[in-house]
Amino acid sequence: MRRKLAAGNWKMNGTGAQLAELDRLAAAHPEPGVDVLICPPATLIHRAASALAQSPVSVGGQDCHAAMSGAHTGDVAAQMLAEAGATAAILGHSERRADHGETDAQVRDKTAAAIAAGLVAVVCLGESLDDREAGRTLDVVGAQLDGSVPDDASADRLVIAYEPIWAIGTGKVPTLEQIGEVHDFLRDRLSARFGREPGTAIRLLYGGSVKPGNAAEIFAVNNVDGALVGGASLKAEDFSPIIAALEAA
Ligand code: PGA
Repeated sequence: MRRKLAAGNWKMNGTGAQLAELDRLAAAHPEPGVDVLICPPATLIHRAASALAQSPVSVGGQDCHAAMSGAHTGDVAAQMLAEAGATAAILGHSERRADHGETDAQVRDKTAAAIAAGLVAVVCLGESLDDREAGRTLDVVGAQLDGSVPDDASADRLVIAYEPIWAIGTGKVPTLEQIGEVHDFLRDRLSARFGREPGTAIRLLYGGSVKPGNAAEIFAVNNVDGALVGGASLKAEDFSPIIAALEAA
């Protein structure tokens, strides 16, 4: 049985004042029936983890470097995230693939570093609108999955987030059939690679314009084990009903 996960990605949003949203979220969900993860900017991880020390809500990073330390100005190592209080890290988000040219091979190395540091790696993949319209979606996400996930990954340290690039921050959402098709495909691909039981245990999140108004129908789709939420994770009043919809799914 896969434990469901509601993950929030604050992206490059939030200074200290934003931490009040975490107090509201923790107060609204003292004993959530699903895993809840918030990934704030790196500068807030330590303070967020402190604010949530008495709460089951956990904190993650949005990226890490593949190396443990070294001459990489501006980067953050996985063990640094862990020491700051993170228990997870998002890797290979499409904005990092676009803004920083991250390749599948780099994402795989970062994912391996996150796992080695004891973090849960939330590995993102998803097709562009051109890929979708050209009928290449499954080829693209299949290749990303193969290339971005290291061989030693397993369900306790790996979550996959399917995020169609054209759905992120746009208010556009694939049909439930399209989401289901990709999630079933990813499930089969993970089972083929890692074995039926290990592949079945890995959680698959959907991400891209998840809101309180569409969360319940998305969570009813087969093989959707939760969501990676951007804009609607910034305010507790928006993220809270998404958590509740996942608890009810
Ligand atoms: P969005 O972002 O919910 O604002 O579309 C999702 C994401 O990029 O993880």
